[in-house]
Formats: sequence, C-alpha cells, structure tokens
Amino acid sequence: MDYENLRVAVEDRIALVTIHRPEKLNALNAATIAELTHLFTHLPGEAGAAVVTGAGEKAFVAGADIAELAEMTAVTAKEVSARGQAMCAAIEECPVPVIAAVNGFALGGGLEVALACHVRYASETAKLGLPEVTLGIIPGYGGTQRLPRLVGEGRALEMILSGSMVDAAEAYRIGLVNRVFPPNDLLSEARKLAERILWNGPLAVRYAKEAVHRGLGMSREAGLHLEESLFGVVSATQDVKEGLTAFLEKRKATFTGR
Ligand code: COA
Repeated sequence: MDYENLRVAVEDRIALVTIHRPEKLNALNAATIAELTHLFTHLPGEAGAAVVTGAGEKAFVAGADIAELAEMTAVTAKEVSARGQAMCAAIEECPVPVIAAVNGFALGGGLEVALACHVRYASETAKLGLPEVTLGIIPGYGGTQRLPRLVGEGRALEMILSGSMVDAAEAYRIGLVNRVFPPNDLLSEARKLAERILWNGPLAVRYAKEAVHRGLGMSREAGLHLEESLFGVVSATQDVKEGLTAFLEKRKATFTGR
C-alpha cells in the first residue's frame, strides 16, 4: 500500500517509519491513523524491528487533528476513539519491537502512539503531554490506561488533569521515556538499540515481549503461568538449539527465527 502521510524505509532489517504531515506538526488525521494501523498490521516481512519518528525538527506528533475533532458528534467521537485505540493496539501488538524516537512535541494522540511503542527514546527538545482536558475532551487513544501503568497513577493524573507538558528531563525522571539524547543523535541511538535487539533470537524477543505485555494485564499468578507456557514454546524452536550450542562452542549464534 502507498501511504500519503507515512514514509517507510527498511534498511538492515530496521523499518524507519516517519509520520509525515510536517505542516500540521504531524497531527494524526483519520487518514494517518488508518495508515499507521495498516502499516503495523502489515509490516514488511524483512523488518525485524521498527523505529517511529515524526517529520521535521519540531514535532513527533502534536496530537489528534483538532480540525477533525471539531466536527465530532457523540456517535462519531466513539468511533474516533475506537479507531485511535485500534491504531495503538496494532503498534503494541506488532510482533517485532517498535521504538519511538520522540523528536519534539508528543502531545495527545502523539504521546499515546509513543506509549503504545515498546521503548521510548527522546530528544532533549521533546515535550510530552496529554493536553486533552484543555480542549474539553479526555485522552481517547489509550492514554488514560497506558500512562498510569508506565509512570504510576499519581504522576499520570497530574499530567492528565493539568494538561501540562513535561520536558525530556522530567519525562526521563518519571520513567516516561527510557533515554534522552541530543537531537542529532536520537535516530542513530534508536537504530543502535534496534540493531542490538536484532542480534538476538527473534522468536525469543517476540515471546519475551508478549510475556511482559500480556502478563501486565493479568494477575501475577496468571502472568507466571503465561511465562512458563511461552518458555516451553520457545524451547521447542531451532533457535534455542542454535543459541545454546553456539554458547557452548564459543561462537556467535546464527538465528533463523524457526
Ligand atoms: N491538530 C491540527 N493541527 C495542528 C495540531 C493538531 N493537534 N497541532 C498543530 N497543528 C497545526 C497548527 O494549527 C498550525 O497550522 P496552520 O499553520 O495551518 O495554522 C501548524 O500545525 C503549526 O502549529 P502552531 O500552533 O502554529 O505551532 P506552535 O509552535 O506555535 O505551537 C504546539 C506548537 C504543539 C504547542 C501547538 O501547535 C499546539 O498546542 N497544538 C495542539 C496540541 C494539542 O492540544 N494536541 C492534543 C490534541 S487532542
């Protein structure tokens, strides 16, 4: 599929996805939401990891497209939220790791996209927030659920109820982003993490991610049971034999994803 508002380039098994509406600070209109949902459910097969960023130097994504939100009715608003949530679910459930490279404003739906990614790296210039209440609405693409799970209820409520932005240093301090880099290093550092992940057994990476993600939605006991089951599934793969044998033979493992 050709995308109007995304640029997708796969290089060395890493898909660089750039959300590209720079004249609107990459705001997520319905078309962009549909494109992101499609992309993350049909990521090119050769991609073993993805990095998501925003076009230009100013914004990752400055939120849902406010011009479109202004046209909502109670009925269409519910659909808008459902489509935004589906987009974030597609990112979160993508079989390969997705790293957000937050290169500027990540507001509203933009922060919700970053929250759905598996790891968040930010530029020193990033500003992150859920300013929906300043517009009289509430976060609708999963922010009320993912933010408190990441930074705790108190900090999430402070951000959501005030609508205030935090800068990159504060985002790092509260665990909202994993690391912060000078703007020029952000993409290369995100790629380095993707490369590091790609050294590992792809099925192990996939199931470890699934154990963490699904486990967080379960009781501790059910999560441990899931971990045990996935540990069993992974140990039946050729990659496990290769990984263990390579260690014993003191050589680098060559994983095939089987
Ligand atoms: N939806 C639609 N358009 C948006 C947008 C959004 N979420 N965010 C920015 N834009 C547009 C602006 O309308 C402007 O378009 P124009 O040049 O056609 O007027 C363009 O992007 C540049 O934005 P501008 O506001 O001029 O940049 P700024 O540097 O002065 O301010 C922000 C940057 C991010 C602080 C400001 O754009 C902003 O507050 N955006 C809305 C953030 C928000 O509330 N998001 C949550 C939505 S639920």
